[in-house]
Amino acid sequence: MTAGPSLTDTDPRPRPATLATAPGGLPLLGHAWQLRFRPLRFLDSLRGQADLVALRLGPIQGYLVNQPRLVHELLVVRHQEFTKTGSPLYETVRVLVGNGLGTSEGETHMRQRRTLQPLFHPHCMEHYAQIMTAVAEERSTAWRHGQRLRIDREMYRVAASAMTRCLYSARLPDNAVHEITTHLPIAFAGVGKRAALPISWLHALPTRENRAYTTAVRRLHALVAQLIDDRRNDPTPSPDLLTALLAARDEHTGQPLSQQQIHDEVMTLLLAGTDTTAALLAWTLHLLGAHPDVDQRLHTELRQELGDKPPTLYDLPRLGLLRRVVAEALRVYPPAWLTPRRAATDAQLGGHRIPEGAYVFYSPYALHHAPDHHPRPDDFDPDRPEAELSYTGIGSAFLPFGAGPHKCIGNAFSLAEVHLTLAAILPRWRLCPERSHTVRPRAFTTLTPGPLLMHAEQRTP
Ligand code: HEM
Repeated sequence: MTAGPSLTDTDPRPRPATLATAPGGLPLLGHAWQLRFRPLRFLDSLRGQADLVALRLGPIQGYLVNQPRLVHELLVVRHQEFTKTGSPLYETVRVLVGNGLGTSEGETHMRQRRTLQPLFHPHCMEHYAQIMTAVAEERSTAWRHGQRLRIDREMYRVAASAMTRCLYSARLPDNAVHEITTHLPIAFAGVGKRAALPISWLHALPTRENRAYTTAVRRLHALVAQLIDDRRNDPTPSPDLLTALLAARDEHTGQPLSQQQIHDEVMTLLLAGTDTTAALLAWTLHLLGAHPDVDQRLHTELRQELGDKPPTLYDLPRLGLLRRVVAEALRVYPPAWLTPRRAATDAQLGGHRIPEGAYVFYSPYALHHAPDHHPRPDDFDPDRPEAELSYTGIGSAFLPFGAGPHKCIGNAFSLAEVHLTLAAILPRWRLCPERSHTVRPRAFTTLTPGPLLMHAEQRTP
């Protein structure tokens, strides 16, 4: 273990960042195998090792940033030195989303971000919130008492429908939600596989899986193009994300976004906003199923505050336990569990030299399970001190939406969606775990529970 000088430029109490090499690298592959096939166990094994853990990913040098203030340095202080460009995940995502907000960098990214920010303005949220509640009610109304449900699929459908209808709130083409729920998960999983194993000829082989991926990508592009065309040809004003995108103007040129740019942004929102939100919904229901005492307290809060009414955006500030439950679910199972950057030049981090081209990861999962910051890190406890689950702290060890210029633009949107969906479902339904079913977290592109079998019990009023 070696020590370097100060941790960040702004740290009031500088202390040296520690550096260690991860144990157990394999010949040729290094730590790529562990990261690909048993990633959570691997991250757990690095707990407390050092602030910066050196990895070997085949021939490439990698680092895991394992300390909140150092993550702040990576994402905020030195974001120009550590970019998304060149990391396998973001290069693979680019095939789907082109130069949408999630893959752009530097000045272009800042301009794009300022152009898109109004889409998520609080005054637009009221309309999105009505859609989110309606989607949750429609879906859960179809459940029957005692029915076994694949909650992961149910929540995927809820998240995909809500996202699609917030994008396009007029009558959707009949096939839209079906196309998205069919093809988006295949495209998303394909991105994860290609990023984990960036060997292009392997993914060009005419296997069933590769063909399904190519079809999924093609169909998603076709659907998005159709939605944009339909909206351009429909003069009826609709307060949705697509209308806002078509109305958006570049702050420098005053010009509308090009057809390609709008297409890329729609793909970005679909891709970034569906899997993550579906995973959070599924994880929260799983945790409530495993903690009936918390589930009961939450039910009491929802009945007291909402009565029989469907939830609205204005009810949310009163639902304190609901907010804590969701935040704690995000801590235990952050959907965006590992995120890459690449050193654009020879760079510094925590006083250590990071060579140009090295991959540098931050892992919300690892930060959220660090016992120094979250005592009993593996326990689900929504009554943790507020500071532990605050979304705003600088250098915080709670980072489910990232930080810095690339921090999730949809964080308020997704939290509203998750809160409203749960507030619409839980007053009427208890989701109970199936005894015979073991949940095994899957850390792939997103951290999901995989197949999540539960049964629905209707609550008596
Ligand atoms: C529980 C749900 C969600 C989680 C956990 C999540 C997490 C994240 C994280 C960690 C990042 C930063 C990635 C990085 O540092 O490279 C991010 C970026 C992003 N997210 Fe989310 N996200 C969620 C929902 C959403 C939703 C609903 C949308 C859209 C409506 C969205 C759109 C985006 C976009 C466009 C970016 C890129 C922002 C930029 O680079 O400026 N996300 N998200």
